[in-house]
Amino acid sequence: MSSQLVYLNGDYIPLNEAKVSVLDRGFIFGDGIYEVIPAYGGKPLRFEHHTQRLQNSLDAVRISNPLTNEQWLEIINRLISETDSQDQSVYLHITRGVASRDHSFPNQTTPTVFVMSNPLHSVDPGLLESGISAVTLDDFRWQHCNIKAIALLPNILLRQQAVDKGAVEAILIRDGNMTEGAASNVFIVSNGIIKTPPKDNKLLPGITRDLVVELAQTHNMPVEETDISEAEFFAADEIWLTSSTKEVLPVTKVNDQVIGNGKPGAVWQDMYQKYQDYKATLRA
Ligand code: PDD
Repeated sequence: MSSQLVYLNGDYIPLNEAKVSVLDRGFIFGDGIYEVIPAYGGKPLRFEHHTQRLQNSLDAVRISNPLTNEQWLEIINRLISETDSQDQSVYLHITRGVASRDHSFPNQTTPTVFVMSNPLHSVDPGLLESGISAVTLDDFRWQHCNIKAIALLPNILLRQQAVDKGAVEAILIRDGNMTEGAASNVFIVSNGIIKTPPKDNKLLPGITRDLVVELAQTHNMPVEETDISEAEFFAADEIWLTSSTKEVLPVTKVNDQVIGNGKPGAVWQDMYQKYQDYKATLRA
């Protein structure tokens, strides 16, 4: 683990030698953004979609992109090739850099760039069999949830509240509508229609979410991007979470209420298989 190779500011070094200044604005203020890219059989999933979201996050916080997409890909490929694990989760982290502590942007700083790749373990088959439990919580985060910011204290507190209650994920409710999970997007199936909230400032535009919407469209499964009220959410026949690390995960219990018949649903089963088929095309 400690001898794992990582990328820091131009160098490939062992993880235990990777050090940043305590004055780094990422450490001091949480002033930075990140990406998580899954890779299957050595191939990053939807690299261009991830780099576009990275660019959008950087633009939103006014940090200029320190690398070209070719350079990002070179780093990612190098780190992936260093490990024997088939599937990897690549973490990209950019902060505004090192400066004396002052809230406003420093005049000239060089962004700090950190990249690591870790084995991506497949989701526990037992969870796919039973589904997971979630709790709903008030979405008390800020108004820019579309930015993949490293400052994740609200998400951490929300996830921990769910874990404290014996659940796997917190599903968030803002102004009477479901937004997303603490670290996932959320879908429901209602009368055969797959639904997920539209992309706006209230949720992260998940790459897995977009892929699931596209897979549904390609295979003529009815899908809608629409607001989902708390009442509609609780009346759903199926609920799924999506993320780069969870893929498409069925939720069978929310706040101790059983969803559907308490088992992962038929539409989820269908989508799960389509997602696995998509991954297989990457590995091929
Ligand atoms: N999180 N919403 C939030 C708040 C998230 O943190 C994530 C992912 C998602 C799903 O996005 P994607 O499908 O692109 O992974 C939605 C990552 C996995 C993390 O923070 O580790």
